[in-house]
Amino acid sequence: MYILAFESSCDETACAVLEMSEDTREIKSNIIASQVDIHALYGGVVPEIASRAHIEAISKITYEALDTAGLAIKNVDAIAVTNGPGLIGALLVAVSFAKSLAYANNIPLIPVDHIRGHVAANYLTHKELKPPFLALVVSGGHTSFFDVKSYTSLEEIASTRDDAAGECFDKIGRVIGLPYPGGHAMDILATKGNKDAIAFPSPALKDSLDFSFSGLKTAVINYINTKRQKGEPLNEADIASSFTKTVVDAIRQKVGEALKATGYKKIVLAGGVSANSHIRAGITEECKKYGAEFYAPELCLCGDNAAMIGAQGYYEMLDGVRGDETLNAYPS
Ligand code: KG4
Ligand code: ZN
Repeated sequence: MYILAFESSCDETACAVLEMSEDTREIKSNIIASQVDIHALYGGVVPEIASRAHIEAISKITYEALDTAGLAIKNVDAIAVTNGPGLIGALLVAVSFAKSLAYANNIPLIPVDHIRGHVAANYLTHKELKPPFLALVVSGGHTSFFDVKSYTSLEEIASTRDDAAGECFDKIGRVIGLPYPGGHAMDILATKGNKDAIAFPSPALKDSLDFSFSGLKTAVINYINTKRQKGEPLNEADIASSFTKTVVDAIRQKVGEALKATGYKKIVLAGGVSANSHIRAGITEECKKYGAEFYAPELCLCGDNAAMIGAQGYYEMLDGVRGDETLNAYPS
């Protein structure tokens, strides 16, 4: 079946067409209109501007996604849309658009949770991947472990108690002076420094699988501000490298503990931060200790996109999930 999928939860307006069946998971088109350049002027996402930019982009990318897939709306069997979590005004753009399109063309509408979508990006990259497994979602808004019992039954077993990992990468990147969003630039800068140059506090909490990134974020920012106030030279690459090592060590530790606690031998990484080369390498090493398989999405499916929403939408649809004219968006 062909699924038309929409995503507008933050600063990417995205539309994709997927061909899905029991043994097919194929992306026919995957269009993303990014707002990064607009929000870069403000050093972060401005919700009001995001909503307006989604409105401007959504019709155009829908035509583009259908054209690239070589399909017309009459060929579409289901419409999947992210309805949360995310920025409420941003989410409402794709939700309203998808509702109208579904209603006007008498096509089933499938609401999809954004976090579940990130996990589902892995089904597109790894065609053989099936639940159950352990998942770690690391994004701009989330850092959580999930027990993925089936395609549509996910239980959050641990999370960050404050900031998300991506938020921490972005804030530190901004203080260092890297372009917004800082995650990708921090990844590159970290390869150029000494990872043992500076000791920062671990975001891994004791006696729980949870994280806390706010202490680490504050410690790194205080380190930078103190050096600047004293007029001492800053080695940005050492900071990026030492910060990243602290994050990777904590993630490795918690991945090991979560594999032990759940008994899973399969872990799936998801979310924008899953693109980080150091985190991928760290989890790969940790999994060797436990004889566990490690899956991560291909880089183009790590960040927000609509293909992942279409993939999860397919499994939600098989499970009987439908949206009707009352479908709303939820922020968290
Ligand atoms: O999943 P995502 O696209 O949006 C949310 O749902 O939040 O994640 C965006 C986050 C941003 O914080 C961005 O800086 C981060 O993912 N990110 C990275 C990398 N690429 C993107 N963080 C670390 N290393 C990267 N290579
Ligand atoms: Zn996301």
